Amino acid sequence: MAWEQARENPPPDFPALPPLAPGRYTNDEFYELEQRHLWSQVWLYAAHLDQLPDPGDYLLLEIPNLSAFLIHGADGEIRAFYNVCSHRGAPLVRAPSGNSASLRCTYHQWTYDTQGDLIAVMDERDFPAPFDKSCLGLQAIRCERWGNWIFVSESEQIEPLTKWLGAINSEFHQFEIEKLRPVEIKHYEVQCNWKLTMDAFLEVYHINGIHPKTVAPSLDHRGAVMTLFPNGHTRMTCPTNATPKQSGARQLQQAGSMPRITNGEIASTYHVSHNVFPNLITPTSDSARQFLMFWPITKTRTRVDVAHFGADWGAGERPSGWEAYLEFWDVIMAEDLQFLEWQQQAVLSKGFKGYRLSYMERRIYYAHEAIDKAIGVSHIPEALRVDPRLARFIEQ
Ligand code: FES
Ligand SMILES: [Fe+2]
Repeated sequence: MAWEQARENPPPDFPALPPLAPGRYTNDEFYELEQRHLWSQVWLYAAHLDQLPDPGDYLLLEIPNLSAFLIHGADGEIRAFYNVCSHRGAPLVRAPSGNSASLRCTYHQWTYDTQGDLIAVMDERDFPAPFDKSCLGLQAIRCERWGNWIFVSESEQIEPLTKWLGAINSEFHQFEIEKLRPVEIKHYEVQCNWKLTMDAFLEVYHINGIHPKTVAPSLDHRGAVMTLFPNGHTRMTCPTNATPKQSGARQLQQAGSMPRITNGEIASTYHVSHNVFPNLITPTSDSARQFLMFWPITKTRTRVDVAHFGADWGAGERPSGWEAYLEFWDVIMAEDLQFLEWQQQAVLSKGFKGYRLSYMERRIYYAHEAIDKAIGVSHIPEALRVDPRLARFIEQ
């Protein structure tokens, strides 16, 4: 960080990054490629275990274009299934969450147990023998846990979740992530492409411009260290200012009785934020950790979910400090999201020639490289590809 603060130029071996093609945010074909090859080939955050703590608890997933649910089985396992009845495809789960000893399709009443096995078929006599119910269970989706965080993947090839997370998983051992408790999930919607939205959270170059009173007083963006990991994941570590007590978040924490979370030495001293490819960013502070997720609803509409996690407060209501803290986050989010619709207009405009990224913004460039890799570069029209420049900077 001291080195970054003192430098007068990017490191001499750092390449100039070619501007990103505006079409990456506007082109229908590119959006279709993402839909077909990206989202189904990665691990995606689904829920926290506390959202379905008991056998029979189920939860409809809110991942766009994936009709699926999680269910806590009678055997204690959490599983994910497509929300598709094996008979004619009606949904098994329609409520956002609930508890049931079995799942009965309300169309023709086929019934499944909490492990997804088909256990009862109405008028089974009408299906010619041999009719093997054991082959007609619900279709499972891969579902694995990172601490108490539950992730799903439609890919059969992708490596196990914690292996795929690699260095991020190892780093997180110091954070005692099992002790974090979900507090609230906030949703925001923006009329722009999901990548434009996420790009805004992958750098701190913008903090003096749009967060002069909220984030900027506590961070020294000029000392930020960006680390690139395999599989598209990254980390940012940013020094805090010499007068961190001016930070709004710290003031709120002191005023509001929020218990501290375990963050280890580095994340307690500096601002640390990881990006789990493709769409999860997890900043942390003394009092809370967030999962920010960027979901494409359409090519030009994004839902941002911000899941807040805090230290366990025991029985009863959450500490009063949370109200002010969540309001503070709303202010920061409004600051961060304010230009995105304009930028979406810009990338459509003839007046915009390319999306320029500096050394400080290299995590954005790397995320785009990883998106192309996930899609398969040969699928992407040449004019829309990112020219890979950052492979040699990846920390193994
Ligand atoms: S579609 Fe579910 S029982 Fe017919
Ligand atoms: Fe910001």
